[in-house]
Amino acid sequence: MKSLNITALNILDLDAQSAELPNLGPIISEALETKGYIVLRNCKIDVDDIPIAHELILKTTELIGEPISHDAHNSIVWDIKSNSSVNNGVVTYSEHSHEAQLHTDSQYSLSPEEAFGLLTLKKAKCGGGESFLLSMENILAELRALPEGDRLERVLRENDYPFIVPNVFKKSSDELEFNFGPIISDGRIRFRVDTLEKALLARPDLCTIEQVEAYEILKDIILNSSATLSFFLEERDLIFINNLTMLHGRSQFTDSNRHLLRVRFNLK
Ligand SMILES: [Fe+2]
Repeated sequence: MKSLNITALNILDLDAQSAELPNLGPIISEALETKGYIVLRNCKIDVDDIPIAHELILKTTELIGEPISHDAHNSIVWDIKSNSSVNNGVVTYSEHSHEAQLHTDSQYSLSPEEAFGLLTLKKAKCGGGESFLLSMENILAELRALPEGDRLERVLRENDYPFIVPNVFKKSSDELEFNFGPIISDGRIRFRVDTLEKALLARPDLCTIEQVEAYEILKDIILNSSATLSFFLEERDLIFINNLTMLHGRSQFTDSNRHLLRVRFNLK
């Protein structure tokens, strides 16, 4: 794994009032299109002033996209904190503190959001919570280098895979819910190990043997890629990630004070 020398902008003047800095929107948009992510470092906020932090991430997001609500309550800014009360059933990564393997967000949704932003208010003090990024470009390069790479890629493109819907996003509390989509399509990837494997465990009939084989090989590439970038998000870092072309993950942490804000959005 590479230690990432992340492309980070030191935006010393970025606060909730000045999120309309000239050229900031185009800089973020271009980074999301070309590199797949951008980190704005040292945002000028008091990390304990939650309303101002909300305003900062929202205003900056609105420069480049249209925020999407996370749930039935229309929450736009979502807290990422470990929540010990939701350790049963299928939970989403924003609710627990275990390792989050490389994945795309909302892979269980029919149309996953195109991008998201994370503002770090409290970093984990335990040494955990390291961030990981891996691009679809690197994944495809490794897949295509395999002797059967072209065939495997076709299987991943031409077949729908099932993803189980996490409890917090389900319409009904009793029944398992699935959504379906190809893992790879033009310019986008959807991937998460546990929502796909839980779906297959419950309904093995939803994939052919050929599909499972292609998925397992792709999973091996993703979880062992030497192209994975690793880094720590620092307090007052605001990162934007392209959710169609980048996988992200994070290591386990034990510090229950870790606190990030997230906004999901589609690009303008
Ligand atoms: Fe995520």
